[in-house]
Amino acid sequence: MKRIILYLLALTMLMSCSKNTEKTAATAKAWQEITPEEIDLNPVRMIDGDWLEVSAGKEGNMNLMTISWGTIGELWSKPVFIVYVSTSRYTFRFMEENDYFTVTHFPASMKEKLGYLGRVSGRDEDKVAGAGLTVEFTELGNPIYAEADLAIECKKLYAQQFDANLLPAEQREWYERSGLGIHYMYIGEILHVWKK
Ligand SMILES: Cc1cc2nc3c(=O)[nH]c(=O)nc-3n(C[C@H](O)[C@H](O)[C@H](O)COP(=O)(O)O)c2cc1C
Repeated sequence: MKRIILYLLALTMLMSCSKNTEKTAATAKAWQEITPEEIDLNPVRMIDGDWLEVSAGKEGNMNLMTISWGTIGELWSKPVFIVYVSTSRYTFRFMEENDYFTVTHFPASMKEKLGYLGRVSGRDEDKVAGAGLTVEFTELGNPIYAEADLAIECKKLYAQQFDANLLPAEQREWYERSGLGIHYMYIGEILHVWKK
């Protein structure tokens, strides 16, 4: 009897171990880490054409929004991604309160959902649920999405609001007319890039 119990115990342990391995292998297959140099999307098309999501926060306290303003390149000898977030956005609070942000790119089939994420505020709705996204958290605890095909994890290096007095007249008038909060720029050091 004792032998049978021991046998069953060993079998259960073996099965749960192989299940975990499957899960790890599937996750590893889903995301592959690449260098910033290996991002093969045209930056203008990726940002202005396809649009991106910028996300900040941790599990249970995060938000995301669509962006089509952004810059990718190098600064202070570091690879950087710069996002521009208006103080009117709910996401602004998360950008201020967190040391990291992520930028995610999605397949073209998701564009309608990106439109929704850029129209609706996280103040009013659970946008992750509304867009049917599956949030995954990086080792640093930052949100990325199973539906994305590229994820860039950044550490905030520098943040500053555009100075209204230094804005070109056209842009100053645009802010005045629209009543939109002047954008902050967040320069993020690219720590990790994953693709599918
Ligand atoms: C295509 C597109 C691009 C956008 N780009 C930006 C951007 O670069 N910066 C910004 O502050 N808002 C941008 N927005 C607006 C925000 O995504 C939008 O106001 C969103 O609802 C804010 O959500 P939140 O209140 O949950 O943060 C964009 C919207 C769309 C549809």
